Amino acid sequence: MSRIAFLGAGNMAAAMVDGLLAKNVPAVDLACFSASGKTAAGLATRTGVAQKNSLDALLAGADTLVVAFKPQHLAAADPRLAELTAGKLVVSVLAGKKIASLAKTFPRARNLVRTMPNTPSQIGAGITGWCVRAPLSPPDQAIVDTLLGALGQAVEIPENQMDALTSVSGSGPAYVFEFAAALRDAGVAAGLAPGIAQKLSVETLLGAARLLARKNIEPEKLRDAVTSPNGTTFAGLQRMAARDFRGLIRETVLAAKARSEELSQDS
Ligand SMILES: NC(=O)c1ccc[n+]([C@@H]2O[C@H](COP(=O)([O-])OP(=O)(O)OC[C@H]3O[C@@H](n4cnc5c(N)ncnc54)[C@H](OP(=O)(O)O)[C@@H]3O)[C@@H](O)[C@H]2O)c1
Repeated sequence: MSRIAFLGAGNMAAAMVDGLLAKNVPAVDLACFSASGKTAAGLATRTGVAQKNSLDALLAGADTLVVAFKPQHLAAADPRLAELTAGKLVVSVLAGKKIASLAKTFPRARNLVRTMPNTPSQIGAGITGWCVRAPLSPPDQAIVDTLLGALGQAVEIPENQMDALTSVSGSGPAYVFEFAAALRDAGVAAGLAPGIAQKLSVETLLGAARLLARKNIEPEKLRDAVTSPNGTTFAGLQRMAARDFRGLIRETVLAAKARSEELSQDS
């Protein structure tokens, strides 16, 4: 694989670099650049990837550019990026930035990939949704698979489903963290010490998620398997149903989707 350049060297770029290095992509094939140079220096020192001190140096010899600064930086991006990325594959992780908007900054890229990773990608356990301007050539597909594989799993979707995906997997980790906190607090209300309640909450979520992934069956089947008629779990689930837990989650996701649509309206 030819060199992959990172424009921006913050959390998301670092997650991708760490994942690539863990998969034995050599550090010499990776380069980074950041506006102040601060985060790029930190990433270079920590991982051994090359820090470049200009956009020209970053893109010279690079085949793929990963755009990993903040979405608001796109509008003010250096106009020379249009020429510097001519013929290169451009992969954006900018939340909410549409392919049409990326195409204004990178009009001569050989292809444009828009991605939406999520925070568990920091430990290689993410799920990234992605869409593409034009069908990927087999070599570019391999590059995208390698890049996104560094963050965890990936699914290709049509661009018009990006807001829906954002509201499920992009915002989803926060819903799970909120559920973990609620389960912890409920454990304390039930009489447990806070530290024990926290441990029980985290390990229950983790164990249940791993069991669900391992069994690869409908969650309802696993739920029913632990629910004896009129038992303790049954009593708890009855209360969840009475308060329309599913309706609440549906509203949560639809609210996040509506906000995602608003935020990405003109971008
Ligand atoms: N974190 C996540 O889980 C997550 C999930 C989904 C999508 N994303 C997307 O990932 C992107 C990056 O997020 P992050 O959390 O990694 O942000 P971050 O840690 O704040 O990093 C931002 C980076 O952008 C650099 N930068 C700022 N202006 C720049 C410019 N004009 N040219 C080049 N580099 C510039 C900063 O460099 P200096 O500070 O060194 O100047 C820094 O390296 C965002 O677009 C976000 O939407 C993140």
